[in-house]
Amino acid sequence: MNKLVFFGGKGGVGKTTSSSAYAYYCAEKGEKTLLVSTDPAHSLCDIFERKIGSKLTEIKENLFSLEIDPEEESQAYIRNIKRNMKDIVSPVIVKEIERQLDAAAVSPGSDESAVFDKLMEIIIDYQKDYDRIVIDTAPTGHTLRLLSLPELLGGWMDRLIEKRMKAMELYEMATREDKKMKNVIEKDPVLSKLNERKRKMEQAREILTDGDLVSFVFVLNPEKLPIEETKKAVDTLEKYKIYVNTLIINRILPDNVEGKFWENRKKLENKYLKEIEEYFSNKNLIKIPLIDEDVKIDNLKHISKYFVEISD
Ligand SMILES: Nc1ncnc2c1ncn2[C@@H]1O[C@H](COP(=O)(O)OP(=O)(O)OP(=O)(O)O)[C@@H](O)[C@H]1O
Ligand SMILES: [Mg+2]
Repeated sequence: MNKLVFFGGKGGVGKTTSSSAYAYYCAEKGEKTLLVSTDPAHSLCDIFERKIGSKLTEIKENLFSLEIDPEEESQAYIRNIKRNMKDIVSPVIVKEIERQLDAAAVSPGSDESAVFDKLMEIIIDYQKDYDRIVIDTAPTGHTLRLLSLPELLGGWMDRLIEKRMKAMELYEMATREDKKMKNVIEKDPVLSKLNERKRKMEQAREILTDGDLVSFVFVLNPEKLPIEETKKAVDTLEKYKIYVNTLIINRILPDNVEGKFWENRKKLENKYLKEIEEYFSNKNLIKIPLIDEDVKIDNLKHISKYFVEISD
């Protein structure tokens, strides 16, 4: 596994459980490990039985964690633009830009891009200080959008920049006499933010598609729908040049089940396991059994022992 390890998969399959177990495993091995959650539902605190939040928290020796709060990030992002802008543009323009920013803040996707920004910032800032950064992501749809954002937003950013430049020519015409105003336009906060964003997106794309830096792990359960979804998701990610090398098959029933009902379930499960093994024969497959209790920090080690085979 590489230094950055993303865990993705459908809702409820065990992403938080396996990413926590893997981070725990790395920390036990002596690697300084950072576990980051990008999931708005904040489930790391359930496993570690403590509040984590957006401040770096030490969980145990070598294991640190933080959770990104999409709403908080989105608001901070907008607040920051507003603050920058107040110093340099006229009150009329401030009003108009504020209106646009507020509209953007509630538009779909703005939380996701704020989370993405924050995640990239964390990766860039902490990369040097940690041996391993493990990222617990939100369910598939969300994750795929998150990871394909740099690709999608690249073109979109260019269009926004162009549009903004055009709009500014109008501003410029209206204030032709006013040198100060022209200067203000050159320092346009929206343009500089858009440009900064674009640079960040390019940097993010470089990071995410760096096969020597990033590993992407997909979690699934041996059932029909998760298999179909995983096939599609793996294809989509690969289209964006993000390669999935490892799959975790989580919640595997014990071999010695009793009773007709469980025997039938086990038979079905074996059929799906075989399908996974055949279809994904070129991937590392890690099998994690269903345990008979809730996953908490005390029993994470039972799950983390299954990672041994992909340790390096
Ligand atoms: N191997 C396992 N044995 C027993 N319980 C498990 C196992 N893996 C996960 N669970 C339980 O299943 C539930 C869902 O797991 P988890 O929160 O890790 O999934 P998730 O993929 O992160 O979900 P979400 O998509 O909501 O973020 C949790 O209650 C967890 O304790
Ligand atoms: Mg989760």
